[in-house]
Amino acid sequence: TVLVLDFGAQYAQLIARRVREANVYSEVVPASTPAAQILERRPAALILSGGPSSVYEPGAPTLDPALLEAGVPVLGLCYGFQSIAHALGGTVAKTGTREYGSTRLDSVDADSVLFAGQDLEQVVWMSHGDAVTQAPEGFAVTASTAGAPVAAFEDAERRIYGVQWHPEVGHSSHGQQVLEHFLHQGAGLGSDWTASNVIEEQVERIREQIGDKRAICGLSGGVDSAVAAALVQRAIGDRLTCVYVDHGLMRQGESAEIEQAFGEAHGGARLVMVDAREDFLSALAGVTDPEAKRKIIGERFIRTFEKAQADIILESEHDPEATEVRFLVQGTLYPDVVESGGGDGAANIKSHHNVGGLPDDIEFELCEPLRELFKDEVRAVGAELGLPEGIVHRQPFPGPGLGIRIIGEVTQERLDLLRSADAIVRAELTAAGLDRQIWQCPVVLLADVRSVGVQGDGRTYGHPIVLRPVTSEDAMTADWARIPDDVLSRISNRITNEVDGVNRVVLDVTSKPPGTIEWE
Ligand code: XMP
Repeated sequence: TVLVLDFGAQYAQLIARRVREANVYSEVVPASTPAAQILERRPAALILSGGPSSVYEPGAPTLDPALLEAGVPVLGLCYGFQSIAHALGGTVAKTGTREYGSTRLDSVDADSVLFAGQDLEQVVWMSHGDAVTQAPEGFAVTASTAGAPVAAFEDAERRIYGVQWHPEVGHSSHGQQVLEHFLHQGAGLGSDWTASNVIEEQVERIREQIGDKRAICGLSGGVDSAVAAALVQRAIGDRLTCVYVDHGLMRQGESAEIEQAFGEAHGGARLVMVDAREDFLSALAGVTDPEAKRKIIGERFIRTFEKAQADIILESEHDPEATEVRFLVQGTLYPDVVESGGGDGAANIKSHHNVGGLPDDIEFELCEPLRELFKDEVRAVGAELGLPEGIVHRQPFPGPGLGIRIIGEVTQERLDLLRSADAIVRAELTAAGLDRQIWQCPVVLLADVRSVGVQGDGRTYGHPIVLRPVTSEDAMTADWARIPDDVLSRISNRITNEVDGVNRVVLDVTSKPPGTIEWE
């Protein structure tokens, strides 16, 4: 494991991700972790992240020199670079000038471990106040910039390296190469973190955890729960029962896709498809307020899932062959784990009291096979497990589904109409090769709005469909996606021709903020 010591940077997770992209396993630990505890984990290498602006700042996190004396290869980035210099007797000076943004490297040492064999014309992303003015004894200076005379150094014998910039961000032209040079040449690590190794290891662990007991997993149609279920299924076969609640608010073909991917035909997972379409529709009848819809859908969902769960548990109790259901599979990802404070929380959650017919004290143990993975790794694992492309590369889709994309009351007729329009949009975006460029494209039906149109020889009075294609990094902010005109025009023609009741297609050109991605 390569441990990334987080000195309070917003970059630590990103560093771990980049390391994994080099097929080396990496985790983030707080820099305040005692050195002995870090070394106990026998890290294959350490990477010191960026952090607060100055090693002289009161309360600035310090680097325990023990970490530099343990013979473990170390790479310091930005603040981590300065803290190496500080700890080993180099000089870190307050230069008074901040160097910020894209900067060209000068005098790159072509014989250094970090840069050998690379293009020496490199642009790097800088963000620092202090600068190293003298490298510690035994270190060679391997690059400089106008604002940082010592922009990189290394002591290849002790295997300690550092750069003043942020190789982990995309703005550093050769950042990934520099990281890979450290990992492979500097630290001598192989490339063994691959999807198939992850699968092998996780399957082993799941078998150990679940033993001969049974597990339940709720499928949402999203990639995380699907991959988690597929992994557990590979490990324990039909002792996993998947529950999929069809609330009737999914897009065209989605429920069938789930059934195909997880049904018995696919190798023996038990899949309980709960058809709750009528139930949801009647609960939503007459409701137009967005928050009220969300509450109703959320609440119905939980009730339906719990009921299915209760049935499965009761059934297993009455089956003399079956061992008890003890595990609940969840698709928790590594960023969630890091954000909630990390740790190996041996979470035990208690099932809700309102599960009909269940003893009060049933406890599930959580099985979270994706706890160590980033989203892109989850997708790679899913592909390797043979899940269909449509699931592996699924764009985000809200839990309340089309229920919050019909502006107005949700009815069967409106759902069918929106499903047809949405299917056309998805097909055309896919055909144009745009799926990976856009974050998602909600298709919204303005069910309470009508406008006049003309089609054939007749007047129409139909509903508008709104296209809401967006680009985003994390859904917190978003911009409207610039879809090529010809694609928009094809979508518009097809929807107005093929979807009865729609005579107008409009494009939402609002960023977030001020708009949200969804309309409700
Ligand atoms: P907004 O509309 O808030 O959406 O900009 C941000 C992202 O979250 C998705 N979204 C949801 N996902 N349950 C979900 O699982 C929900 O209730 C929900 N509401 C919005 C939305 O599609 C976008 O990706």
